[in-house]
Amino acid sequence: MGLAKLFTRQLSGYPGGYKKMRRGFQGFNETPPFAVPDDDQDRRSRIPPLGYREYWYPALPEKDVKKSEPSMLRMLGTDVIFFRDKEGKVQALLDWCPHRSVYLSMGKCYFEGFVTCPYHGATFDGDGNCVAFLTEGPDSKMTGAPGMKARKFPTVTLKGLVFVWMGDGEPVAPEEDIPPEMFEDHNILRPSYCMFDCNWVLVLENTMDAHNAFMVHRNALRILGSRLGGRPRTPLGYRVNIVNDKNVHYRPGSGKSSVENFYYDDNGNIPYQMYYPGVDGVWPLHKWRLLWTWFFDKKAKRRGQTPGRQRPVSADTPDVNEWNGTRLPGMSRTGGNNRDFRSTRWPVPVEENLTRMVYLNVERYSKPPSVLRRVVKGATWPYRNWFLNFNFRNQDYDAEKYVQYGMPEYLSSTDSVVVAMRRLFVEHARDVTRRREREEEAPESMEETLAEQQVRQGDQLVAQASEAFDAQRLEEELLRRV
Ligand code: FES
Ligand SMILES: [Fe+2]
Repeated sequence: MGLAKLFTRQLSGYPGGYKKMRRGFQGFNETPPFAVPDDDQDRRSRIPPLGYREYWYPALPEKDVKKSEPSMLRMLGTDVIFFRDKEGKVQALLDWCPHRSVYLSMGKCYFEGFVTCPYHGATFDGDGNCVAFLTEGPDSKMTGAPGMKARKFPTVTLKGLVFVWMGDGEPVAPEEDIPPEMFEDHNILRPSYCMFDCNWVLVLENTMDAHNAFMVHRNALRILGSRLGGRPRTPLGYRVNIVNDKNVHYRPGSGKSSVENFYYDDNGNIPYQMYYPGVDGVWPLHKWRLLWTWFFDKKAKRRGQTPGRQRPVSADTPDVNEWNGTRLPGMSRTGGNNRDFRSTRWPVPVEENLTRMVYLNVERYSKPPSVLRRVVKGATWPYRNWFLNFNFRNQDYDAEKYVQYGMPEYLSSTDSVVVAMRRLFVEHARDVTRRREREEEAPESMEETLAEQQVRQGDQLVAQASEAFDAQRLEEELLRRV
């Protein structure tokens, strides 16, 4: 910094001058305020900023729940406490004492299996019943009084992770909301967490943003080996199916019917730099990645895959089911039918501008893994976790948190997953269907949005393009509506 610059900075208020706060929010709280569009035909306006409540959500590791005092976590804008009951099972109550509304999280577990309020000593069991009121003595009428019941949230603990039912309605079986590999016997769960200071919808919509790889991730370790930034550019994008009104399944396609084949020539070659006439320039600007990507291309060729891509072989046979893709109430599952490892990215809303991202990383085993395997996998996990969830995924964070959700948008066929997800969520979320049942409302017929039309046209284009070479596969894969 030159001397003159230093001087002007001092004059304009050190450090940063007016630039530091040029959008108002920069400098103190970096996230722009969250807003949804003011138009109820825009699907975004109907997705609740604090999440859908009639679902199970991941909360915290069981080992973090002590015997001596409750743990507290804000979930979907609600403060929940966790403590152990008489059997040692983790239970959850609203962080609220029904007597005079003090936070139970500030209390203690003086008696094993119970939590005691710090104000007048109301003491609750795992079901939220008041079993003692210490300051009134053993004859207190508060004990067992129906009005003195704390609000309970049902819990289930799987592979050391506590899940909570956040709804007001009857809980569904945990198997309906929690990924199936969490129920398989020998699997090892390696959870990881990180906090994003933006809304959960922004986090979720990013996880299915198929075409940011060559922009946002072009320098992620995982992508650097690929000449095409992980996936080839395409004006069409993934095609989608909504499965069982629970999940948006998406796939890039593969082989001949791939939407990613758009820019390949007949010999299976695709240029590294493409020319954009509007700017009279090419992207990427430089060719230095080619110094090493030839090596990975060779590897792909040996596996019989198109050079430039880095896609597991299993992606060639997409497994369309309700657990692959983006699923209500807001989890994203990639990796398709991987038999050894499955990862779920589950953004849990905390506040409007704060999200707890829970990664359910599950190693799958059909029988108990050997000690050696456990040691090796355990020792390499920090690196794998960084590679997958932090080096790669956190690059998105820097972009997604600045999405101005309340502003108009103009979507493309490549946004097909986001478009389908919004429709699925606003029409089929359990909160919506239960409210309809309760109020005996008929499902509202919603008009197709412009974005939905664009995606439908994309579907047709893919259909026509694919027909030329593989009509049968097209029929089986691309047009199948499950
Ligand atoms: S407020 Fe909890 S016992 Fe009085
Ligand atoms: Fe991304």
